[in-house]
Amino acid sequence: MILKCKSLVFCSFCYPCNYRVQGTYYLGYLYEFYVSHGSMSSSISNEPAFFYCKPLFNCLILDLNKMSELLEKIKTKKAKIGVIGLGYVGLPLALEFVRSGYCVTGIDKSKERVESLSKGKSYVIDVRDEDIAQFVEKGILSITDDTSVLSDLDTISICVPTPLTKTKDPDMSYIINVSQEVKRYMHKDQLFILESTTYPGTTEELVQPILEESGLKAGKDFFLAFSPERIDPGNKGYSVKNIPKVVGGVTEQCTELARCLYSQIIETIVPVSSPKVAEMVKLLENTFRNVNIALVNEIAIMAERLGIDVWEVIDAAKTKPFGFMSFYPGPGLGGHCIPIDPLYLSWVAKKNGFELRFIALADQINSAMPEFVVEKITDALNSAEKSVKGSNIHILGVAYKKDINDVRESPALEIMNILRLKGAKISYTDPYIPEIDYHALTARSKPLTKELLSKVDCSVIVTDHSNFNYDLIVSHSKLIVDTRNALKGINKKHIVRL
Ligand SMILES: NC(=O)c1ccc[n+]([C@@H]2O[C@H](COP(=O)([O-])OP(=O)(O)OC[C@H]3O[C@@H](n4cnc5c(N)ncnc54)[C@H](O)[C@@H]3O)[C@@H](O)[C@H]2O)c1
Repeated sequence: MILKCKSLVFCSFCYPCNYRVQGTYYLGYLYEFYVSHGSMSSSISNEPAFFYCKPLFNCLILDLNKMSELLEKIKTKKAKIGVIGLGYVGLPLALEFVRSGYCVTGIDKSKERVESLSKGKSYVIDVRDEDIAQFVEKGILSITDDTSVLSDLDTISICVPTPLTKTKDPDMSYIINVSQEVKRYMHKDQLFILESTTYPGTTEELVQPILEESGLKAGKDFFLAFSPERIDPGNKGYSVKNIPKVVGGVTEQCTELARCLYSQIIETIVPVSSPKVAEMVKLLENTFRNVNIALVNEIAIMAERLGIDVWEVIDAAKTKPFGFMSFYPGPGLGGHCIPIDPLYLSWVAKKNGFELRFIALADQINSAMPEFVVEKITDALNSAEKSVKGSNIHILGVAYKKDINDVRESPALEIMNILRLKGAKISYTDPYIPEIDYHALTARSKPLTKELLSKVDCSVIVTDHSNFNYDLIVSHSKLIVDTRNALKGINKKHIVRL
């Protein structure tokens, strides 16, 4: 049978319990129609754009009834929103819901984080203490480590970590544990959205079977979707609200519910046909970045041999208005996404008998960058007739990127560790990271003073924080290795660039 809806044409198998309709937009439209006409079957014949088949519509109406109550709650801001995992991803998401007028419950198993937030103290750079304190005080944001509150919620966004194991395979333990917890407290008509970056297939092949052990069926009794988080901590131009959000549900109703929920707080929603597609979108984006950074890192190493300034090359290349996107060399990859996510993709590829050679090569090049920086430091010290062993080397910036307080996977830690093993005396300054503890290296950030800079043998800019006093650094350091081109335009003999 053929259904015409606005300008779209859909083919459907038309049996009461075995139908297929294509298009999330279409379901959304049917729902709008249903709500505005009170009932679809009574008014359908008055709608000239529809050619309808009653069994099909009866079937749809049954399903729409199920989702309509939750949709109505979402649209009227009566839905009780839950966010599991209040880290760099979950906390800003929870606050965006609160700002849009929802009552939100944030659940985190870390007692330390729950305690901090309950006292109105944020640990995420883009989240202000005042906001947390105000929302908690007003009772519109509750923070807890008690998962049993899940039974009282309508929608639950899951934002738990997805790291790698020691053998660089996906560590799915957080997603498995959280799914087990959810299973204990879930009930009919709740919407679950997984946000954690993961390999294609996780939502349907790992999460869904665990949740269905409850006896409830995804798409029928509860709704399940995947929506990758694309937040970029420290980015002043893009936040939760204006980064387009991709959503893919296990059924079209699931996609529609997730689309509707996130459209209340986010400007642009991009529905896709399945959770697998949504999972793959995130991995493609981050693999694209990872591979391009590797390419430019390799070009930087080669440019040095040719005596060419790679930074000048990139600046000139990016004047091309199309077909080129600038990526920059650096001391190595850091953070919870770019170094890790592509390995999720290569893992799933291997499982399917396919090797993603680009990812393996990029990982090899990017992972070698800390060693390359150490080589640069060694050569710079050598030209000043000094050795790494016994030299005082001061690291400027240990966060994995500028203006944030996150050291996860930071190349600075690896650089410091290699230098320490070679016998250097290491110190550091990072206004965002008061202390570090990595392998045998524990240290506290030192205030940046001219006395400190003039005492050390070499200062190394690993992270180009905006609030470093670069004039002070240039004026008082004996030797500087700049891995980020933070001193662009300053050409002095004691400055060595990557
Ligand atoms: N950090 C980023 O910039 C970023 C950006 C996009 C996507 N992501 C992805 O989002 C996910 C979360 O990343 P993050 O940076 O927010 O991690 P995070 O470590 O900052 O936060 C995760 C939180 O989840 C909590 N948690 C773990 N298991 C739990 C459980 N069973 N119940 C309740 N709480 C639990 C942890 O205590 C922690 O507070 C990851 O998959 C990551 O790859 C991160």
